[in-house]
Amino acid sequence: MFYKTNEPHGLPHNPFKALVAPRPIGWISSKSASGALNLAPYSFFNAVCDTPPIVMFSSSGYKDSVANIEATGEFVCNLATQHLQDAMNTSSKMVDSDVSEFDLAGLDTATCEIVRVPRVEAAKAALECKALSIQRLVDLAGEETNSWVVFGQVVGVHIDDDVLVDGLIDMSRLKLLSRLGYMDYAVIDEVFAMPRPQ
Ligand SMILES: Cc1cc2nc3c(=O)[nH]c(=O)nc-3n(C[C@H](O)[C@H](O)[C@H](O)COP(=O)(O)O)c2cc1C
Repeated sequence: MFYKTNEPHGLPHNPFKALVAPRPIGWISSKSASGALNLAPYSFFNAVCDTPPIVMFSSSGYKDSVANIEATGEFVCNLATQHLQDAMNTSSKMVDSDVSEFDLAGLDTATCEIVRVPRVEAAKAALECKALSIQRLVDLAGEETNSWVVFGQVVGVHIDDDVLVDGLIDMSRLKLLSRLGYMDYAVIDEVFAMPRPQ
């Protein structure tokens, strides 16, 4: 089949997010200007380069995470893993900006080394980030969309020693959770290596 994205696709659900998958889940912690804590999962999330390490996430609507990062310039990408899947899901609930999703999901905070935003203590990995830019996306017609992209430089990395084996991250221990399409998720727990051609 083929469909143009400005015409109906004729399928029961939009297939786009099921095709660009799996997507890692950046579980973004941030703090408002008045100090209210915030935590929310974003699967339009990825690393965009490694020198220096830069990540991005995109918000469909100007959500609390974007507003907080615009106000403070700091955030943390906690990596969502299988053992925290229910807490991650609970933290996606739309609540008032003065409600901490850490409390809602029963999660303890841990102090970060560089940024003034806390991380999820139970997360097996977390990236401390400083905001580089926040951009409202513009479409082909030059119209502003309802999507904002946040770019941040990673300034510190936390890794639970339990997932390090001989100095390498063992994916079968980390069990990263990733988002597919529809209501579906996948866990990365099987890995194979493929050397590059010479
Ligand atoms: C697994 C998962 C992935 C999500 N990814 C996104 C995303 O990429 N962009 C987005 O705008 N919302 C996403 N959401 C919804 C937000 O988490 C939700 O709107 C949340 O309330 C936003 O919180 P905030 O206003 O505190 O930032 C996702 C939800 C879940 C459960």
